[in-house]
Amino acid sequence: IPALKGIYRYHEFIGSCIPLDSIIYLGEGHTPVVEANQRLKEKVGLSFFYKNDGQNPSASFKDRGMASALSSIKYLIDQKLISNVIAICASTGDTSASAALYASYLGPLIKSAVLLPHKKVTSQQLSQPLGSGAKVFEIPGVFDDCMKIVENLSSQYPVVLLNSKNAWRILGQESYSYEIAQDFDWKMKDKAIVVPIGNAGNISAVMNGFIKFYEAGIIDALPKIIGVQSEHADPVYQYYLEPDETKRKFVPVNTKPSVAQAAMIGNPVSMPRVIQISKKYNEIAGSRHVFFVQVTEQSIMDWQLQANHNGHIACTQGGECLAGLAKALLKKIVTPQEIAILNATAHAIKFSEFQDLYFKYSIPEDYEISSNPDLINLPSLLLPDDQNLIPSQQKRLNEKDFQRFVKNISDKIAETLRLEKS
Ligand SMILES: Cc1ncc(COP(=O)(O)O)c(C=O)c1O
Repeated sequence: IPALKGIYRYHEFIGSCIPLDSIIYLGEGHTPVVEANQRLKEKVGLSFFYKNDGQNPSASFKDRGMASALSSIKYLIDQKLISNVIAICASTGDTSASAALYASYLGPLIKSAVLLPHKKVTSQQLSQPLGSGAKVFEIPGVFDDCMKIVENLSSQYPVVLLNSKNAWRILGQESYSYEIAQDFDWKMKDKAIVVPIGNAGNISAVMNGFIKFYEAGIIDALPKIIGVQSEHADPVYQYYLEPDETKRKFVPVNTKPSVAQAAMIGNPVSMPRVIQISKKYNEIAGSRHVFFVQVTEQSIMDWQLQANHNGHIACTQGGECLAGLAKALLKKIVTPQEIAILNATAHAIKFSEFQDLYFKYSIPEDYEISSNPDLINLPSLLLPDDQNLIPSQQKRLNEKDFQRFVKNISDKIAETLRLEKS
């Protein structure tokens, strides 16, 4: 039954009112949970897993929410309640990629338009909505400015908002928690779930998911939740710095450049939601179970590279999670006996521009990151000693010269790799 694939394997919890034939499935959900190797576990100080949400169709976790949001729209279209839908969103790159992908699948029933902060998304992220045929608007400023425009548009025009303000978006993202519960055999005691925070939509969805499974008796404990923010975009962390709940006051922050660019948000749309759900989560758990940590830009980049040198495909936000886990251990929020599950929210390839800059010692100063030579990796261009032996597409070498070329280059590689002839 196609509709019971992906996030809709949990149909009872995710919009059970939507009939199966209105559901859209593009391969989202059931992403791999990959255990860290011994070397990386020792470096960090406890056991952990990455859940690779970069292996969703548009290479980020947003597809979970978009499958749900677009299925709800398809249902309304099928019921002939709406037609000629224009779906819009503001994005730090991944929401737009996902919205455009799912909308294009439903074309011509639905068209998408996305707003991106100019030069604040990677070229890979920009290419995604363009490739899906969405109308792409680049706006000066940061994500928070794009969001205000989208809110203004949606209050005046008949458009469908695909940001996490849309409850259907958040609903689909709850599937992340259901999958973790299932992957760990429903045993959530002594587990800690680590997520990066931008708009705070995802952490809200993750908490909601666990609460629903707990209240339904599917799991018998709530895991700890650790939300991570960069010190360059940390409004949620700042809010929770005040221990007295009655004295907390939310103040948006001016963001500074961050390699965790997809989470670089100063005025999170879901702030009221995260406040309300965190409180409920702690109350149900019976003790403090939701924590917020702040990490440096340097630690985000260094931990991302460390993870990926050990077999992972974490994006910079995934690096942020690992930096957050190391910080949480230091602050005794988690103990070495617990097991953490980290959200690699997007695929590393989407953010490879930051890796390139790091490897070339060229990350701009305002990121406050310096490249650690031990983590740098650059390609070596090997040329033959004799310039006449360089093959090209236009001019192939004769057989004898080609053999000399092969030997000369092989010798150089063998010397660099210190290979001994067998
Ligand atoms: C890759 C990635 N990680 C993390 C986030 C932060 O998620 P949220 O905005 O739901 O807090 C986003 C999007 O904002 C994202 O695209």
